[in-house]
Amino acid sequence: MLQIAEWCADRVRASTYVHDGKTQWYAPSLAGASTLAAALYKPEVYAGVLDVLARLDEDDYSAYLKGFMRRGMARFGESWRYADICTVLYVLADLLGVESYLEIGVRRGRSLAMVLDRRPSADVVGFDLWLRDYAGMENPGPEYVAAQMAQLGHRGGLRFVTGDSTTTVPAHFAAHPDATYDLITVDGDHGPEGALRDLATVLPRLRIGGAIVFDDIAHPELGYLRGIWQRVVQSQPNMSCHVFDETGYGVAFAIRMR
Ligand SMILES: C[S@@+](CC[C@H](N)C(=O)[O-])C[C@H]1O[C@@H](n2cnc3c(N)ncnc32)[C@H](O)[C@@H]1O
Repeated sequence: MLQIAEWCADRVRASTYVHDGKTQWYAPSLAGASTLAAALYKPEVYAGVLDVLARLDEDDYSAYLKGFMRRGMARFGESWRYADICTVLYVLADLLGVESYLEIGVRRGRSLAMVLDRRPSADVVGFDLWLRDYAGMENPGPEYVAAQMAQLGHRGGLRFVTGDSTTTVPAHFAAHPDATYDLITVDGDHGPEGALRDLATVLPRLRIGGAIVFDDIAHPELGYLRGIWQRVVQSQPNMSCHVFDETGYGVAFAIRMR
């Protein structure tokens, strides 16, 4: 009996953390995914996202999205529960106090704008191939996105890396071996191998208390993305996850707890 009690006491001691020279009894992150999710489904978040979208150039998809959100809000009021990459990034950037952001899949800067509206001083590195006419819409490239972000009032560092994320992201980490991020989005290559590789490559670079976002986990044509998320992120014991898959294309995020 005494041996078990001593073993338990050792386990308790082994599970503490040290910060600023003081013992911390809990894992360092103050909040898990359910705290962030509780802040997500709110009319003021939808209104804020619509306001950011209104300040960007419109394309067919953003025009559709704005109409969809307005209809949901008008029909269901405070009961409406909707999330996508924009609403998730808008909330996470704000509540996590994001100072450094890595994004794979920038396109025209829609998701990036959500982060920078909330955190205008954040430093950003973005990766994209800028595939022409992506999803049937113009995909003008990094200069265009930089101009859109300047228009929004971004004043932090902004660096875009053009090329296939298979090579550009590992090369970036090789050149910056100590680089870590408060917030990371994976929304570039949507193929099963590319998406898995991007997620697995960036996950070790997420700071404790930071968040990773993965888009389109409920897309009707991309059913394998949910399994990739489960395998690479959700199954990790140090990640606290939230998934929204009721309407739209679905989105997942996770907080690194320790
Ligand atoms: C879905 S869009 C990103 C949308 C953006 N996150 C938003 O919410 O507005 C995907 C982007 O990933 C880029 N992309 C696709 N495959 C890629 C790859 N292998 N490496 C880098 N970028 C890629 C495309 O050029 C496209 O701009």
